[in-house]
Amino acid sequence: MKSRIFLGLLTALFVGAASAQLPPLEQQDSYVVGFAQTESNNPWRIAQTTSMQEEAAARGYRLVYTDAAGSAAKQVADVRSMIAQGVDLIFLAPREEKPLAPVILEAKNAGIPVILLDRNVDQSLAAAGEDYVTFIGSDFIEEGRRVGEWLTEATGGEANIIQLEGTTGSSPANDRKKGFEDAIVDQPNMKILASQTGDFARDEGRQVMETLLQAHPEVDVVYAHNDEMAIGAISALEAAGRTPGEDVLVLSIDGGKEAVQLVVDGKINYIVECNPRFGPKAFDTMEAYVSGEEIAPVITNEDRDYTAENAEEGLASAY
Ligand code: AHR
Repeated sequence: MKSRIFLGLLTALFVGAASAQLPPLEQQDSYVVGFAQTESNNPWRIAQTTSMQEEAAARGYRLVYTDAAGSAAKQVADVRSMIAQGVDLIFLAPREEKPLAPVILEAKNAGIPVILLDRNVDQSLAAAGEDYVTFIGSDFIEEGRRVGEWLTEATGGEANIIQLEGTTGSSPANDRKKGFEDAIVDQPNMKILASQTGDFARDEGRQVMETLLQAHPEVDVVYAHNDEMAIGAISALEAAGRTPGEDVLVLSIDGGKEAVQLVVDGKINYIVECNPRFGPKAFDTMEAYVSGEEIAPVITNEDRDYTAENAEEGLASAY
């Protein structure tokens, strides 16, 4: 760790903040690695953290883990603390696209490489392959597009939609919205009646759905940017005497066990998976970087989907 601090000082002194060089990471027997998580309020985040912890332990690395509890400001402080501790590398799942970009540059200037997991940052503020090693995660635009295409096919292009958006300013919320809206833009009879954030949280999804349902009783589709909000929306629909999965189609992204079971039960119609099991790929990428291999600036996860036809079979391997 001491040599990393020394390297960092050298970087800051002689190379300067504007350098396009990523900080090197030398071969060591073991590493102290940071993982700055955004929050732990849903099964997806818990599965991601478990995967990172198990993989670090399997490789004999020490993981410095922080939970920002849903606050971008706390996550900035968490990353700063990792920099101060002189960890060897930081894995960061940035809560939002803009506020986390500056600390990526701070880590770079301290000589600490950063790998982004699952969420990206604004590329005009910090760029993959220049300021941080790579982004590993799902293609969120593609996820939203797949939902839009499935819905067009399933409804023959007629739908009155409520969209429950994820955390405002986060890359999955921005991109899942874009992919979905792009996919249905040419369908004159597919209308988005309302689109509002539920912050990727179950109870917020339920509350927002309750309100929107009163304003738009003609809704026949709910597109939630994650399972948690979809499950919250199902509660709101049932409380209002509606039948989720039948008179209101429910579409979601993530594919946790509870949600996949709801596909089996007929209450969710379609889920695009977003795989949270990052551990093996994250640490393989780190080790490839240490070995001097060229790392692609974006490493995309492959995601399956769940429908009434395959959900039962997929349940066992869902997280
Ligand atoms: O960034 C991925 C998203 O974040 C998941 O879809 C969501 O459930 C999580 O909180």
